[in-house]
This record gives sequence, structure tokens and C-alpha cells, in this order.
Amino acid sequence: MPNRKPLIAGNWKMFKTCAEAVETAKQLMELVAEVSDTEVMIAPPFTALYPVANTVKDGQVLLGAQNLHWEKEGAYTGEISPLMLVSAGCRYVIIGHSERRQYFGETDEDVNKKIKAAVKHDLIPIFCIGESEQERESGQTFSVLDKQVKKGEERFFANDLKTLVIAYEPVWAIGTGKTATSHQAQEVHHFLRSLVGDLFGDTLATSIRILYGGSVKPENISELMARQDIDGALVGGASLNAETFSKIVQFKRA
Ligand code: 13P
Repeated sequence: MPNRKPLIAGNWKMFKTCAEAVETAKQLMELVAEVSDTEVMIAPPFTALYPVANTVKDGQVLLGAQNLHWEKEGAYTGEISPLMLVSAGCRYVIIGHSERRQYFGETDEDVNKKIKAAVKHDLIPIFCIGESEQERESGQTFSVLDKQVKKGEERFFANDLKTLVIAYEPVWAIGTGKTATSHQAQEVHHFLRSLVGDLFGDTLATSIRILYGGSVKPENISELMARQDIDGALVGGASLNAETFSKIVQFKRA
């Protein structure tokens, strides 16, 4: 069996003030204090990163950011660099989330530069991909994902990507309550793992973690996690409440 430690990651999106973020992080720390067989990560908004880093520093909850700029520093008003994220205590960074692509015009090329910057600064990228409802209905799911993966990982070698995490988030399942069935998710995850194998070889394909995201809840996590190629979840709405999120973290193992 491949040794892929499950990762349950919470994407808090644009929710929570500093005080609210610290409070939720504190509650979560207590609720998952005994968990050692699953990695737990939360990605609060930028403003709350540093205070939350101080809150979680003695526990096993890891910190991630939701975005980054590819330059180390410079005249880029409103942007945050990888160096700043590392100094704020981040270990992970979410890159290419569909909301960034959809509302802020992020392209596959931008995503590629961001992954490169993250890797260079020892941040673990969570590289998000996913098809829209219309793309799925017109039978383009696999070709869309193929293009996103190839563009995002262009000019990389297997060694650069050994920490990379892929998150498959079908756009039609995000925040809609419509989860992909575990069969649909497994089918895509299997396709993605084979694609990584074709591009970078079997070693990376076997070790890379592929998360599912899109309306993950305590009620559906165990069924998703029972599938061979699903190594964790990127959770939006259900990660905002510590108790609900801790139930997802403590999914029932098959
Ligand atoms: P929901 O869990 O709210 O559907 O969001 C998923 C997501 O976008 C995580 O990045």
C-alpha cells in the first residue's frame, strides 16, 4: 500500500476576523489534539495568519495561505509574497483555486508561476483544478483537467514536485451542496494519478496526494476517503466551524 498520509485542509476563504480565526483555531486544536494519523491544515485569510500561527504553534494543526504572488518582493500593491507567508508561519499555500480563476482572472500560466514560487520557498503548494458544470455535461472533464495539469506543471521535474498536493475541486460542487459521488471523484483521481505518472514517473504518481474538494461534510467524508486514490479533502464551508471540521478530520477509516 502506498504510504500517503491523509490531509484534511480547511479553506476559510474570506471569512473570519482575527479574533474569530484565533478562537476557531483554539477550539480545533483541542478537538484534534489526539489525531496523529491525519495531517490537518487550515488556511485563514491573510490578516489572520500570524495570530493563528501563534495559536497553533505547539500543536499539530498546520497553517496555509489561500494565495500568493510569485515575486519575493516588489511594487505589487495588494499582493503577498511567498517569503511573507513563510515568515507568518505558513507551511502550505492553496494555488489556482477556481474562485481565483473565475473572479480574479487567474490563468494557468499564473498558476504555474505561483507553484514555482511556492516550491522555491519551501511552501507546499495545493494545486487546485476542476471542471465547470458545462464542461462536465459536454464530456470535456478529462480534457480540461489534462490541460490544467499540464500547464500548471509545465517546465517542472518530478523532484521539484515531490511535496506538491493536487486538489480536484469540480466547480459545480463548490458551495452548492452537490458533492461528486465517491465514484465520480475516484474516477477523476485515478485519471490524475495516471497523468502524473505519464508526465513525471511512477514514484511521484504513487506518492502524490490528491485531495477532493466540493461540499465535503462529516456525512460524506468517510465514503470519499474509502476510495483508493482519494488522499484527503479541501473543505470550504464545513471547515469554518471547529466541531464540524474536527468530525471531518476524524473520518471513519474503512
Ligand atoms: P465547499 O466545501 O464550501 O463546497 O468549498 C470547497 C472549496 O472551495 C474548498 O477550497
